[in-house]
Amino acid sequence: MVCSAIMTPAPHATPTIKLLTPADAARYRTIRLEALAAHPEAFTSTFEREREKPLAWFAERLATSDVFGAFIADELVGTAGFRREDGAKTAHKAVLWGMYVRPGARRSGTGRLLVDAIAAHAAQRVEQLHLVVVSENVAALRLYAAAGFVEYGRGVRALKHDGRYYDETLMALFFDGSGAIRPR
Ligand SMILES: CC(C)(COP(=O)(O)OP(=O)(O)OC[C@H]1O[C@@H](n2cnc3c(N)ncnc32)[C@H](O)[C@@H]1OP(=O)(O)O)[C@@H](O)C(=O)NCCC(=O)NCCS
Repeated sequence: MVCSAIMTPAPHATPTIKLLTPADAARYRTIRLEALAAHPEAFTSTFEREREKPLAWFAERLATSDVFGAFIADELVGTAGFRREDGAKTAHKAVLWGMYVRPGARRSGTGRLLVDAIAAHAAQRVEQLHLVVVSENVAALRLYAAAGFVEYGRGVRALKHDGRYYDETLMALFFDGSGAIRPR
């Protein structure tokens, strides 16, 4: 069991948001595996795939990706990742991925702080920030909409887990002031 030994933070403490480094690999691995195990439908990757990875793999991810962590009293209670597209014609875009807040820290603004940190980071680097979210994940949909993301499409039966299909909602945040795509 991945999360049995994790302390539950005091509710409503204000987290500090920091960019994670390879030195955070052990606690990043713990929270990442907890997220994948508890919410298999919310992430494209799987617990089974990542639990096999050595600690060095998580350290390498933190060295090569921009992953933000939310800390309460030195405990890592949430994460969110930023990845810029690297194609010649897609480098104006980035993706928000790996959004997770531990149950004990939810509903007190931690998720919003992480989204805002990623958005501020992205605004310095790209023109638009994209994400995909399972269409029945009401908490995440509301969080992203409140942070300014707009829906621009839907991936039908985008994921299949344990024999069940999940649609995905495609969302983006635009930094050029255009506001949005307006679906017809
Ligand atoms: C989605 C998630 C990251 C939200 O984190 P959080 O720290 O609870 O979010 P916040 O406290 O910052 O909430 C911000 C807003 O999101 C919405 N929201 C968050 N949780 C909600 C819930 N359970 N039900 C409805 N709306 C919710 C609300 O609009 C909220 O604003 P409000 O508190 O003023 O009403 C968290 O529930 C989580 O980790 N879920 C499991 C993993 C997951 O689904 N990740 C997203 C993958 S795309």
